[in-house]
Order: sequence, then C-alpha cells, then structure tokens
Amino acid sequence: MPPKEVYFDLENSGYVPDDVVDVMLPYFNKRGYGHPAITHRLGWEALDLIIGTKELVAKTLNLANPENLVFTHSGTEANNLAIQGYLIANRDKLRGKKVLVSSIEHLSVIFPAQFVSELLGLEVIKVPVDKEGFVDPEVLKYYVDRDVGLVSIQLVNHEIGTIQKLRDLIEVVRDRNPDVVFHTDASDAYGRVRIDLRDLDVDMMTLSSHKIHGPRGVGVLYVRDGVRIEPILRGQLSVEKLWPGVELTPLIAGFRKAVELAFNNFEENVKYLTSLRDKLLNGILNSVSDVVLNGPSGDERAPDNVNVAFKYVEGEALTIELSGYGVYVSSGSACSSRFLEPSHVLLAIGREYELAHGSILFKVSRYHKGEDIDYALEVLPKAVDRLRTLSPLTPRRA
Ligand SMILES: Cc1ncc(COP(=O)(O)O)c(C=O)c1O
Repeated sequence: MPPKEVYFDLENSGYVPDDVVDVMLPYFNKRGYGHPAITHRLGWEALDLIIGTKELVAKTLNLANPENLVFTHSGTEANNLAIQGYLIANRDKLRGKKVLVSSIEHLSVIFPAQFVSELLGLEVIKVPVDKEGFVDPEVLKYYVDRDVGLVSIQLVNHEIGTIQKLRDLIEVVRDRNPDVVFHTDASDAYGRVRIDLRDLDVDMMTLSSHKIHGPRGVGVLYVRDGVRIEPILRGQLSVEKLWPGVELTPLIAGFRKAVELAFNNFEENVKYLTSLRDKLLNGILNSVSDVVLNGPSGDERAPDNVNVAFKYVEGEALTIELSGYGVYVSSGSACSSRFLEPSHVLLAIGREYELAHGSILFKVSRYHKGEDIDYALEVLPKAVDRLRTLSPLTPRRA
C-alpha cells in the first residue's frame, strides 16, 4: 500500500462522504422506502422526500416552481431526456431544422443529438470553441439562423473547466431566433458556480448528483413551463411523468444531503476550492518542466479543475505511475481513456495529439486538505521524471 492515498478523479466518480451515506441508509429499510406514487404512509414519506428535495434544489437555483424539476437516474439520462425528448416531441415543427451543440459538450449531449437527428432528418452542427474552450458570441451568431431549433451549450466544461459566458451566448441566440430552445448541461457548474434561473434565460438544464459528492444515480432536469418534451422511456407508474420507473429514494435522500452540504457556506467552499486549485496548479508549474495548462485560468476557470498536459509523457502511463504512489487522476476524459482515443475536448481546443495524450485531469474537493496537495506535488515530479527518462520522445539535453 502507498503511504497515503489522494483521490483526484472526481470527474469520473466522486466519493460519498459518511454524512451523506448515513442519511441514505434508513431509506433502504427504515422509512421512506415505499413507492412514492402509492397512497399509504410509506408512499407518502417517499413522496415527501422527493418534493422536499426538489424544493431545496429549486431554492439553490432561485427557481420559483420546484415542479419544473424532473428526477432521472443520472446526468446522462437528464441530457438524453432534454435532447431526445425535445426533438421527438416537436418533430413536426422541427422538420429539416438544425441542432447546435458546442464541440466540447459531454458525450451524453453530443451522442443523443446525433442519434435522434439522424432518425428525424435534422442536422447537428458542432460549434467550434477557441483555444481556451470559449464559444465566441460572434462565431455563434454566424451559426444561429431561423432554421435552428435547439441549442445545447454547457455552463462549465467537465474536462478543462471553462466557465462559458452563457448569458452572452443566450442573448445572441434569442436575438437571432426567439423560437430556439436553449439547453445547458450544468453538471459541472452546480455547487461551484452560482446559477440563478431568474437571471439565466435557459429553457432546460441538467444536474448530476455525483458531481457534488452525492451518490451516483441521480440526475435532475429543469424544464421551463411551456417547453414540450416527450418521455424517452415508456414504463411503469411513477411520480415523474417524464421519467418512468420507481424513484430511487435512498439516492435522492443522499443527493439532498449533498446539496445541503454544497450550499451551506457556498462562497467559502468556492474560495477554499480555488485556493487548492491554485496551490496544485502553481505547484505543478513550478516543479515540473514542459507543462501546458489546458483551458483558461483565474476566474474564468472552474474552481475545482486542474488539467495540464505533460510533454513527452503518455497520460495513461502517468495515471498508472501515480497510482503506485496512491494518487488517483484521469487522463483526459474517462469516456476516451478506455479506448486510448484523445479527448474530443482537447482536440477541439487545438491540442496536438501528443499533448492531448499527455494530459491529466485533477479535480479538487472540499474534502481535500492542503497536505493532500503537498503529497501530490511531492510525488508528481518523480513520476513524470521517471516516465520521461524512459520515453524516446524526451529531448536529450547535454
Ligand atoms: C458535464 C457532464 N455532463 C453529464 C455527465 C453525466 O452525468 P452522470 O455521470 O450522472 O451520468 C457528466 C459525467 O461525468 C459530465 O461531466
């Protein structure tokens, strides 16, 4: 066993702290395990949990009506429901129209957009981003015309931490075509960036529980009144009209607790994350040569995200090497790393294949301490040095 373990792979799955696990357990066997759509005491308890959690989430979003929120069983499902559900429900009026997604969206946005568009005869256009991952409003203007039906642009990028200037982008879209429905995947923004739905003029928005140390298996979709979407699954009785299948009350109880924890002291949490992020990033830049930051810096970057490319190093090899020291990170995106394909996000910001392959994603969390960062900074230069010594790509300096 390594002397210490530090988990930075929070993009792919977060750990669930004890106080979140503790509130979940009774919902398996003590209370609230009834079916929330059934009229008996245990059903009502389950229903209360669902209603109460939606009220809490609505409060964190400054959303007046919690009934605009739908629980799904993951962020992937919420994105699929938004994209597929909207396109299918409105297929007649959308015939021949276009769907715009940014080229750095999560694949749970890009793939359903492509899949349903092909079935319905729509065209999907990936809007390019600049070298820090921003969609330029002027570039977006070029793509939005009367033939665009749906736009999906995330608030924060999950790999490179770009905080999109979403209000400016929405303004461009509304100005060019007021009929467009605008979806944003806010899975990586929730709990790190303030979201105010009275101010942010989106029609649909996705959240994911495990991105804020809740359990995996809870997603949320916000759907504005008047936006017509169709369920994409058909099945049994449930409280959610848009998502069949019995609600996962133990997981929803955990999500509720995770929301409470993320939003108690929100500003301090963000300040703390930012300090850990900067300590880690500056430490890497000061202790390892030939490193390039992926994504923007400062206030334009998510407070928990550090993504750097190590020249002359293969990312997978570095994840394995660091794992030997008990430091767990991912190389680019999990979706890509299993297939050893460079991340589509890194390619979209113009990273060469070699640099994309040498990129490592760290996510810091309020459960990290300064000493965790110190430990990572102690072992990282050793791991990088060893791999560079072995690599034929490393320039040999006299
Ligand atoms: C930006 C973004 N959207 C959606 C998802 C999918 O969420 P889930 O893992 O809950 O399916 C992820 C997952 O990592 C993500 O990073």
